[in-house]
Parts: sequence; C-alpha cells; structure tokens
Amino acid sequence: MALTRSLEARYYTDPAIYAAECAGLLARTWQFAGHASQISAPGDYFTFEIAGESLFCIRGHDAVVRCYYNVCQHRAHQLVAGQGSTRVIVCPYHAWTYELTGGLRAGPNIKSVEGFDRSGVCLTEVRVEEFLGFLFVNLDPEAAPMDSWYPGARAELEEWVPNWQVLEPVKWVEIAENCNWKVSVENYSECYHCSLNHPTFATGVVRPETYDIQPQGYCLRHMTECQNLDQMTYDINSGFAHMEEYSSWFLWPMFSFQVYPGNVLNTYHWRAVDADHVVVWRGWYSPDGTPDPAIDALARQDRETTVEEDIRLVESVQRGLKSRGYVPGPLVVDPDCGVNSEHSIMTLQRWMREAVDG
Ligand code: FES
Ligand SMILES: [Fe+2]
Repeated sequence: MALTRSLEARYYTDPAIYAAECAGLLARTWQFAGHASQISAPGDYFTFEIAGESLFCIRGHDAVVRCYYNVCQHRAHQLVAGQGSTRVIVCPYHAWTYELTGGLRAGPNIKSVEGFDRSGVCLTEVRVEEFLGFLFVNLDPEAAPMDSWYPGARAELEEWVPNWQVLEPVKWVEIAENCNWKVSVENYSECYHCSLNHPTFATGVVRPETYDIQPQGYCLRHMTECQNLDQMTYDINSGFAHMEEYSSWFLWPMFSFQVYPGNVLNTYHWRAVDADHVVVWRGWYSPDGTPDPAIDALARQDRETTVEEDIRLVESVQRGLKSRGYVPGPLVVDPDCGVNSEHSIMTLQRWMREAVDG
C-alpha cells in the first residue's frame, strides 16, 4: 500500500485556503451555536459568529428555537448584539419590527408606500438542530440532518449521558491557540503523541492498549477502557451504564462530546479566527448548572495539564509548518489501528482535503 503523506503545509498557512474553507466547509457543516439553557424563556436570544457571519438564536413564543442571520431586511443594520430577551425584534436603525418567527410586523410609515407587502419581508433563517440540549446550526439550507452526518452518535450519547436533559453549562474555559484550526483538531484526534506528552496518560486511568479512534460517518469515535478508578478525584458511582469507561464523539469539523468515567460530560468546541489562530473552549456541565467543586477541580486540572501540554505542541507545529524545510511526512497508519496509529489523521485529512479541493 502506498504511503499516506500528511497534508501539505499550505493547507494550514495559506489565507486563501482559509477563505475557501469559510466559503465552503464552515458554511456547509454543523457548527456549535450554544446551549439551549442559554435561551430557556420565550424571547431569549444570543448572538454568535460562524465563518464571518453574525447570527443569533432566539426562542419563540411557541418555545421553538430558531436561528437567523443578524441582519435587517430593510437596509442591513444588525438587529441584536450580545444576548438578552425581547418580545419582538426591533431594528435599532429605523425601528422595523419583526416577529420572533421572522416575519415583518411593522415599520414607521411603511403604510404610506403603495403596494408594500409586509408578508414579503422576512428575516433569513438558518438551519438549527438541538442535539442533547446543544444547539448546532448549518448555513446550508440543503444540509443533511445531524443524524445522517453522525450516525448513531445521538443514541449512544443518550445512553452514556442519561441525565443530559438536566445538564447545563457550569463553565466554558476559553483557550486561544496560535495555530490553524486543523492543527488543533488533528492534535485532538490522535493519541500517538499522548504517552510522550501527557504524563498522566500512561499512569492514569486510561488503559492505552485499549485506546482506539474509529470513524462513524463524519464522527470520530474515541474509545478506551479504564483502570485504577479509585485514583479519580471525584466519585464515579453514578450508577449509570458505561460508568467505568471513557469515550468521545468528535463531530467533524469543530465539536466534541467527551464522557469521562462516572458519566461526566465535557466538551471541546473550536472557532477558527484566521489561518493562524483558533479559539478552543472546554465546556463543563452539571445538573441545572449548579456549581460543583469536583467539576471545578477537574476543569482546573485539565487546563493546567492536558490543555497546557497540547498548546505547546500545536503552536510548535504551526511554526514548523511555516518552515521552508518541511516536507510532509508519511503518516503512521497501523493496519491494526490502536493508540499508536494515525489512521484517524488519515481520515481527518481526507475530509480536510475534500473540503477545499472538492
Ligand atoms: S435597517 Fe433596519 S429598520 Fe432600517
Ligand atoms: Fe494531546
């Protein structure tokens, strides 16, 4: 079998490729928007940005969450900023007013315009899906639903996180990384670097010889058995199935659900800033978002160890990718897969190439 070479450096450094990703990949894939608990009451909204587009999610009086481009259909002023709550959406420029279902309700003096048809003016809606309480949007109106992108993931997560309906964010730890988003996502998606760079990996609860990552549609599923669970800093006696395992579901291209032993849900989500910068958030959750010292300790330990160790790796890689001396090396694709194989990178880089080159 021919060697599989890593992606050429330009995919990680060329602003033109980043621009192509914004126009294509980021606008055609499911992207994390926020958590449904951020907009629990009718009229609650929050804004966010995907691929340079300002968007907002808002809960209607019918309790349905909708997402719109954050732009007035009159003369393009942005409609809302930050987060808040409102009965109707009022544009700050000339006070055109929209229903939470997107239709134009009123505007000063519009009745004076003969033939003005309010029903023809509507906010531009964006596809939104709720996935275990997490809101994802897709700018592509034709996009297939998340269940076809990530087959089986929803049902598996419901089984691994049986209390997902009561979970709310406790904190999202923000981590700025000076690297292309794909460098960070690749680093997340292999564990060939783990034994050397994460001291707790070899000595902790993971049984490295059982670690593997396998594609499941456009999901990369990480699985491992655990050991030494009495060393955990928190109580793992959740009583739920799978409480002695670790698993994660990376949803291409920029989100991952992780479940730690004891059925502890935590997440990663990435937002690309430009070709050389990405922001990563580590999300931590508890029932009703109640502060929990054990979750706090876990978040702090994660930030100080794994996250810190990975920042150094990805930033060094980004510097290396800019070296004239770099020739993309062969990936270590072990036919038996396993923890010391880069088969998951081969899959990921195929998706990355397809996203840019079609
Ligand atoms: S641009 Fe919104 S009311 Fe004029
Ligand atoms: Fe790592």
